[in-house]
Amino acid sequence: MRILWNETLRTGIPDIDRQHQEFFRRTGEFYQRAAKHRTREEIVEMLDFLTRYAHEHFREEERWMDLHGCPAAEQNRVEHEEIVETVATLREMLREEGSTEGVAHVIEQRLLDWLAEHIARVDAQLRDYAPQTSVPAGEDAPGPGGFHAG
Ligand SMILES: [Fe+2]
Repeated sequence: MRILWNETLRTGIPDIDRQHQEFFRRTGEFYQRAAKHRTREEIVEMLDFLTRYAHEHFREEERWMDLHGCPAAEQNRVEHEEIVETVATLREMLREEGSTEGVAHVIEQRLLDWLAEHIARVDAQLRDYAPQTSVPAGEDAPGPGGFHAG
């Protein structure tokens, strides 16, 4: 079952929520085209986005979890590593396969659905440990370091 962005996914950290929303937006666009109609460029673009996302967003999210002593921090790190490996495997698969349809299916099933589920199951736990601000995602808020857990 596909997970869509909803309020239960909000962590209360505007930067993180904004990045998660961006992930769901990009995923939604990707799903708008059937796997067999996806071009190689669209797949490369998605994998590029996920590589960047993993590099920047994962690191930032891990810092926030550490800062607030979130018990899911270790699990989060382990799953992030697995996701990074999966992205690398898919890049390899795209290089080797002539057709893009199979790769597009695997991206959906092994990466996008999994990441959405990860956000709901692991990332959303941050909400109970991070001080909640009333700033909606999309507006400026203090970065890590300005808050104290408690
Ligand atoms: Fe995460």
